[in-house]
Amino acid sequence: MLMIVPPCSAYAMNYLGQIRAAISLPRQRNFCRSSSRAKERLYKGMKRALVTGGAGLIGSHVADLLVREGWRVRILDNLEPNTHKRGRPAWINRDAEFVQGDVRDRATIENALFGTDIVFHQAAYGGYMPEMAKYVEVNSLGTAQMLEVIREKNFPIKKVIVASSQAVYSEGAGECPKHGLVFPRVRPVEQLQRGDWSVRCPICNEPTRSVPTPEHAPVGGETVYGLTKVDQEKLVLLWGKQVGIPTVALRYSCTYGPRQSIFNPYTGVIAIFCTRLLNSLPPVLYEDGEQTRDFSFVEDVARANLLAATTDVLDGLPVNVGSEKGVTVREIAQRVSDALGIRIAPEINGEFRPGEMRHLISGTDTIRAVGYVPQVDLREGLDRYLDWIRSQSDVRDYFSEAAENLRNKGIVHRVGIS
Ligand SMILES: NC(=O)c1ccc[n+]([C@@H]2O[C@H](COP(=O)([O-])OP(=O)(O)OC[C@H]3O[C@@H](n4cnc5c(N)ncnc54)[C@H](O)[C@@H]3O)[C@@H](O)[C@H]2O)c1
Ligand SMILES: [Zn+2]
Repeated sequence: MLMIVPPCSAYAMNYLGQIRAAISLPRQRNFCRSSSRAKERLYKGMKRALVTGGAGLIGSHVADLLVREGWRVRILDNLEPNTHKRGRPAWINRDAEFVQGDVRDRATIENALFGTDIVFHQAAYGGYMPEMAKYVEVNSLGTAQMLEVIREKNFPIKKVIVASSQAVYSEGAGECPKHGLVFPRVRPVEQLQRGDWSVRCPICNEPTRSVPTPEHAPVGGETVYGLTKVDQEKLVLLWGKQVGIPTVALRYSCTYGPRQSIFNPYTGVIAIFCTRLLNSLPPVLYEDGEQTRDFSFVEDVARANLLAATTDVLDGLPVNVGSEKGVTVREIAQRVSDALGIRIAPEINGEFRPGEMRHLISGTDTIRAVGYVPQVDLREGLDRYLDWIRSQSDVRDYFSEAAENLRNKGIVHRVGIS
């Protein structure tokens, strides 16, 4: 159903005013603008998406893909300064509406939702930043409020897809020689302080071998960010069941690719290693660098979003999105260094982050069952990312200062120091 804003209503005026004030898009692309019959016919049947966080890494690729697929797209993004130090990025799709605004603002989210069919909720405050309250405000409260508004205003939203994360798990699944598939608990800080990085079976305490983590693994929330990701996905899935609106929570693995912020030293290990090396500084590895991570190229993650939007098989589910391949952080540092041709040995100084998982490989049976196949492997993805980062001017190191901040705030610890 195509919804046209009544041109004279106060609501429409307010809506259009706000949108126009904040956006740069060609006027005729406003969803809610009263349009000629010809235009109505043209837009009939087109799906309309709201992509929150659509200026960021994943959101911008989701927006691009949707536009290419013929969707009408509105982006809501507040251009979070940690991520967008130079303001509005040039990559925001010109065929999408761009609304600069904050998901925490009720009127903004209400206006942004108007006239859309599907929400791709990507906006979030991410990584290992020290602002606890801001995580809860942006991620948990922002999501809760958006859902409340949809219900309160009876917006005819047909689906909500929320960006969840592998960070919802306590620890990656393991295989115990005696007990088979087990779900180890988060490693206690006292163990990490001894420099013991092992993951152990919760039944017999024997070390486990990392295996892909299925969605039915217990959900934890062992960092503030992880906790708010649990909030987001539970809020969305629960709400969907209550109100009868299909919802999907996509638990992304580590996602990387062109447009990953080169300013944010708190998230994105590949981006951080690149910016370190390009500034002739060593990448810093926490623990012993042998942690494993599962990397997804951003365009694959965008495709997973489109898939979740267009099939009903995933409705109501949390769904892992990953490559099902584990790569150590040390190997990532090596690969980035090789590809850049900058040979600086990584630094390991006994630091660790309590609550961080040792190993996480996403089990992807659920999404593969509906046809998801990652198309860009790590080799190609890294090459594409490095090509992009080389084209960026003034790539600075923000990590050194951030690392100091994290030590002072007790987010990063050092072995032997309690
Ligand atoms: N990149 C990853 O490795 C990864 C992994 C798992 C989950 N995720 C999740 O995927 C989503 C997108 O992540 P990303 O990597 O693209 O991050 P990103 O930082 O590149 O993009 C997030 C976007 O959200 C915007 N934003 C932040 N706070 C906002 C607010 N209050 N109001 C409106 N917009 C706001 C930012 O300006 C940014 O453009 C997030 O929900 C993140 O938690 C990312
Ligand atoms: Zn065991």
